[in-house]
Amino acid sequence: MATNHFIFPDDLIDRLQSLYAADVVDIENILCNLPLECISNLEFPAEEQRIRQVLMESKEFQLILIIWGKNSSTPIHGHGGSDGFMKILKGEILESLYFPFTTTLKKESIVNKSNLTQVEDSKHFHKLLALSPSISLHLYCKPLKFIQTYLPEKNSWENVEV
Ligand SMILES: [Fe+2]
Repeated sequence: MATNHFIFPDDLIDRLQSLYAADVVDIENILCNLPLECISNLEFPAEEQRIRQVLMESKEFQLILIIWGKNSSTPIHGHGGSDGFMKILKGEILESLYFPFTTTLKKESIVNKSNLTQVEDSKHFHKLLALSPSISLHLYCKPLKFIQTYLPEKNSWENVEV
C-alpha cells in the first residue's frame, strides 16, 4: 500500500469532528454531507496502489478514507463482526459480494457517488476493485481491527490486522 503523495487537508478532521458533535451519529448525514472541497486536492497513488487513512476513531465507530489508484483492489474479506458502510466520493468501484467464508460470488455491482452501501458480515463478505482513480469513505461500527481475508495462495482464511 502506498504511503507517499498523501496530502491531508489540515482542517478535515476538525470539520468531521463538528459533524460528530451531535449526540446521535447519523450515518447518512455524515457520509453524504462531508465538506467535499476538502478532498479536491488529494493526489491519487499509482495504479494498483491505495492509501488508507484513519480519520476518526472512538469505542463505537471508525471513519476511514481510502484513496485508490486505478485497478487497486482488496482481497475477498469480512469485517470481523463490524458493520461497514461505504460512500464513494470520487470515481467508480466494482463491489463483488460473496457468501461468508466462501469464494462463491453472490452479486456484483458498480458503486459510485450516487450509492451508499452497507456490508453486513453475517450476510456477505466483499471484494473491492477501483475501476478508475477513486476516493471512498468507510464507516465501521465497531472499529475495524482485523479483516477475515481469503488467501488464494493458501486457499484458506486468515485474520489480518488492519
Ligand atoms: Fe470491506
